[in-house]
Amino acid sequence: MSVTRKIIETADPETARDGAGVLLKRVLGTHNLSYIDPFLLLDHFGSENPDDYIAGFPMHPHRGIETVTYLLRGSVKHRDSEGNEGIIRPGGVQWMTAGSGIIHEEMPQVEDGELEGFQLWVNLPAASKMIDPRYREFGSGEIPVVEASEGVDVRVIAGRFDGTDGAVTELEAAAGFFDVTIEGGKSLEYDLEERDNAFVYVFRGSCTAGEGKGVALSAPILGVFGEGQRISIKGGDEVARLLLIHGKPLDEPVARYGPFVMNTREEIAVALKDLSSDTFVK
Ligand code: FE2
Repeated sequence: MSVTRKIIETADPETARDGAGVLLKRVLGTHNLSYIDPFLLLDHFGSENPDDYIAGFPMHPHRGIETVTYLLRGSVKHRDSEGNEGIIRPGGVQWMTAGSGIIHEEMPQVEDGELEGFQLWVNLPAASKMIDPRYREFGSGEIPVVEASEGVDVRVIAGRFDGTDGAVTELEAAAGFFDVTIEGGKSLEYDLEERDNAFVYVFRGSCTAGEGKGVALSAPILGVFGEGQRISIKGGDEVARLLLIHGKPLDEPVARYGPFVMNTREEIAVALKDLSSDTFVK
């Protein structure tokens, strides 16, 4: 018998500007909610107004994390110190392992004027912090869609849903990242491993989530699931869109400083020293 998880905490996104001034909603990695092990950050970026995003994220470093960038609207061009280049388009995903160090830029392109997407930071286990950087991108057509039940579709961006492997399967942390669409009145019931932390970010419409009557969640809001296995989410009157994210906690110390996430302050100091002495990219 699986135990249905309760929603133990909710958090509103914080409005922030990052990169060269991109307006975004910081969903996780905020003052209120800094870490849901192994997830360090979730940003929801986007606007109908190119002035809010056109400055983009010019060349900047990362070490010690993996990032998964998932786009709903518009397009973003990527370039990095490993020589990778690519453009992600609506429904597409980009996966990058910063590992020992990468310098990259992420530049939104103005096409129809609108942009919307997400970036998730997944922590690297201590043993993998300094692995070689990797980069891959997947078009919308490469992301499997599972009909979990009538009126409930799950795009499997990373990890595995109900036996279906997602586009990104090689994250070092054992984690899943799903884009879920729930039609009005329909519901999702899905068991996750008990060891996993899990949260939902509702970005369109509303739903109720968790054990019993559940907790009402109206976009934009994050809900953290507590102990148990079963995820229960009931759609509201209209279509609800949400990200369901889960992962096995690393249970390791976290030392973070901007784009670097290591285990100790000393390792952060090394990253800064490498950066200033041009030995950052291995
Ligand atoms: Fe970045």
